[in-house]
Amino acid sequence: LKTAPPSVWKYKDLLPVAIEPVSIREGGTPLYKCDRLAEKIGVKELYVKHEGMNPTGSFKDRGMTVGVSKAIELGMKTVACASTGNTSAALAIYGAKAGIPSVVLLPAGKVALGKIGQALMHGAKVIMIKGNFDDALALVRELCEQEPIYLLNSVNPYRLEGQKTIAFEIVDQLGFKVPDRVVLPVGNAGNITAINKGFKEFVTLGITDKRPKMTGIQTEGACPIVKAYKAGADNITPEKNPETIATAIRIGDPVNARKALIAIKESGGMAESVTDDELVQAQKDLAQLEGIGVEPASATSVAGLKKLVDAGLISKDETVVCVTTGHLLKDPEEVISVCAEPVTVEANLEALRKAVFE
Ligand code: F0G
Repeated sequence: LKTAPPSVWKYKDLLPVAIEPVSIREGGTPLYKCDRLAEKIGVKELYVKHEGMNPTGSFKDRGMTVGVSKAIELGMKTVACASTGNTSAALAIYGAKAGIPSVVLLPAGKVALGKIGQALMHGAKVIMIKGNFDDALALVRELCEQEPIYLLNSVNPYRLEGQKTIAFEIVDQLGFKVPDRVVLPVGNAGNITAINKGFKEFVTLGITDKRPKMTGIQTEGACPIVKAYKAGADNITPEKNPETIATAIRIGDPVNARKALIAIKESGGMAESVTDDELVQAQKDLAQLEGIGVEPASATSVAGLKKLVDAGLISKDETVVCVTTGHLLKDPEEVISVCAEPVTVEANLEALRKAVFE
């Protein structure tokens, strides 16, 4: 097992699935050492765990391979979720692979184009809700209570079991070393909870002897967990109208908030918010200094790290892992809106020279 390449099912002994899993080779994502970005931010050692390299381009595949396998094991015939986009793409492909119908509820007008494309092409029933993600989640929970439909949002613990493998892989890829800190975006707050659980399990099993400080980043327009953390509260006050360019984490009432606040506290971590401008700058830095293309939500990890290092709240001597949760191609419209427009020229050498050298 020690020599097998990292992937979700490398760790099957630690996953609660008894059948042959529904798998599309998820996990095993790269952990890049990012020296140029480390220098810009001012930390000694920085790694990026690029979850955009999963089959659908986000970490949600880790949770869905386990969640949909469990649905099949339990004999469920239909699966459903509410989503800001990525969860719906993941549910759609694993539902397709398993041969069962999937239903996804999305907040109308607030989902990145690539994600809708994935959900549609993989054959999910895509329903746009005239409301935000929190409204969609409340609705799908009600539907699944009344109908024999298996709910695969992160209120489902099997999802989080799959996502905890991010922690296992980080340890594995660092040669059984544990980083000082893991920084990641927080929306519905499942992933920070899941990764924290993974690190804890490795300590319990005697594989490692310490855990990283879990550090969650939100955007200023949608940051109930940051507010609760800063107020020293153990639960959030929901935000009614969350708004951010990072539509993946445009969430005002995260269902796993309590668990996330515990994970942050017991690991000695923290929570911080960044502006949309700061996250776009981090997205460009990842892309242009390291060749790592991420969607806006993912870049909050790097933007948050920079803010906390600048504020002196994170020591420059730390070894840090930033998790980038989704791929650049998920949200092409955002890219077009934040980058300079391409130039169009006449098809002759003179015009080309002008465009190249001007
Ligand atoms: N990054 C991306 C790209 C996401 O899609 C999400 C969540 C998160 C971070 C936050 O993770 O919710 O576990 O705290 N997306 C969900 C979805 C809500 O429906 O795709 P979290």
